[in-house]
Amino acid sequence: DDSRIHAIKSKIRVVPNFPKPGIMFQDITTLLLDPKAFKDTIDLFIERFKGKNISVVAGIEARGFIFGPPIALAIGAKFVPLRKPRKLPGEVISEKYVLEYGTDCLEMHVGAVEPDERALVVDDLIATGGTLCAAMNLLERAGAEVVECACVIELPDLKGRDRLNGKPLYILVESH
Ligand code: PRP
Ligand code: MG
Repeated sequence: DDSRIHAIKSKIRVVPNFPKPGIMFQDITTLLLDPKAFKDTIDLFIERFKGKNISVVAGIEARGFIFGPPIALAIGAKFVPLRKPRKLPGEVISEKYVLEYGTDCLEMHVGAVEPDERALVVDDLIATGGTLCAAMNLLERAGAEVVECACVIELPDLKGRDRLNGKPLYILVESH
């Protein structure tokens, strides 16, 4: 695993001062350009989550839509998109969350998840943890059990993990 993880980390491009000064942007598009490293990323998640009776993978718009669906297909789970506001046409439940400036919101279709389903939440990256926290709240309001969250990258200095109320978080790469 160490050699796979090392290769994955080497394919993530870090872009200083994007999208604004002081931010070290973690660019996963360079990982996607390498079929071996992209496949290893998905395989590591599959190895972790197969056989855990997960019935739903919830992916967070936008970059959670890249990693979530191949995991869902491989473990035999359905995929539910958690979308930014006013994108979903049906009845939704919404969760607001705080960003550095202002707030954002995630929405999920009512009826996408049944009570007592076992859910995995997938995104590319955890920074402050606000996004994953909102995603977990949506699933729990729908009656699902969030088994675990999974991200490719954690920024541990921002202590986002502390906002997950002890929920397990599986990550492949730390970036400082
Ligand atoms: C980024 C990233 C995570 C989130 C993490 O998404 O893809 O979803 O921020 O931040 P947090 O842990 O501080 O909440 P962003 O909202 O920039 O949008 P995108 O995925 O649509 O590009
Ligand atoms: Mg995102």
